[in-house]
Amino acid sequence: MAEIIDGRKIAEQIVAGVTRLAGELAADGIVPGLAVVIVGEDPASQVYVASKSRKAKECGFHSVQHSLPANTKQEELVALVEGLNRDPSIHGILVQLPLPDHIDADSVVQSIAPEKDVDGFHYLNVGRLVTGATGSAFVPCTPAGAMLLIERIHGKDLSGLSAVVIGRSNIVGKPMANLLLAANATVTIAHSRTADLAAVVRQADILVAAVGRAEMVKGSWLKPGATVIDVGINRIPAPEKGEGKTRLAGDVAFAEAEAVAGAITPVPGGVGPMTIAMLMSNTLAAAYRAAGREPPAV
Ligand code: GUN
Repeated sequence: MAEIIDGRKIAEQIVAGVTRLAGELAADGIVPGLAVVIVGEDPASQVYVASKSRKAKECGFHSVQHSLPANTKQEELVALVEGLNRDPSIHGILVQLPLPDHIDADSVVQSIAPEKDVDGFHYLNVGRLVTGATGSAFVPCTPAGAMLLIERIHGKDLSGLSAVVIGRSNIVGKPMANLLLAANATVTIAHSRTADLAAVVRQADILVAAVGRAEMVKGSWLKPGATVIDVGINRIPAPEKGEGKTRLAGDVAFAEAEAVAGAITPVPGGVGPMTIAMLMSNTLAAAYRAAGREPPAV
């Protein structure tokens, strides 16, 4: 049976470290500030954004949330971001994605000052990650959190290990692959057009599933002893809980996979809490850098 990786516990340790360091900064008159911006009423996004704002407060940060109506114009949103770029009390800016269809998300994301881009989506931060300048980059929070979980199992050097990432999104798949590469893993990116996905997955000492399809990865696909990081958060019907009830499921068929893997993240309670912890860590780092200080390792 696989070791179940407790993302909640590891995230709590990170948040405790961030809170302590934020307290030290505050004693010098610097309070880390995080602005979270949401446009529209998407219920899942509302939940995520509320938990980000709440966690920032718990860390002792100055936490600001801007909730804008779905019909907000792109120019209005960019103007808000530009105001936050100029605001010295704000060190990190996050615009929750997806944005409504009439807004060009990329234009908005690229309007965030790179030094406040705690999501790591600005081209400058993407370029730093891809070229291996990870020391100065903001790394997207979900892959950064997944990477810490992988380090807990395998250490920082993944030389000789084969890693497979399923999914090629800019938010998870591509940055995840670059982090694994920077740690010396031999990396394959699989996606919806990959032939014989099961055979590709079977090569993986480390598997990261980020596809958004409930329980798509089967236990029989896995290499025995593999480390399985499940990024998927899918809501599926759960008739066993009663009529009309639902439950959360990852991209991996957990019960089957647990019997084959060496270590596996649960859903919920695996990667999810790590994403928020890394957002807090990135915001703290932004505040340190704004003060001309080297951010400590959290
Ligand atoms: N939507 C889903 N994940 C994320 C994330 O990490 N950052 C932002 N800004 N939006 C998201």
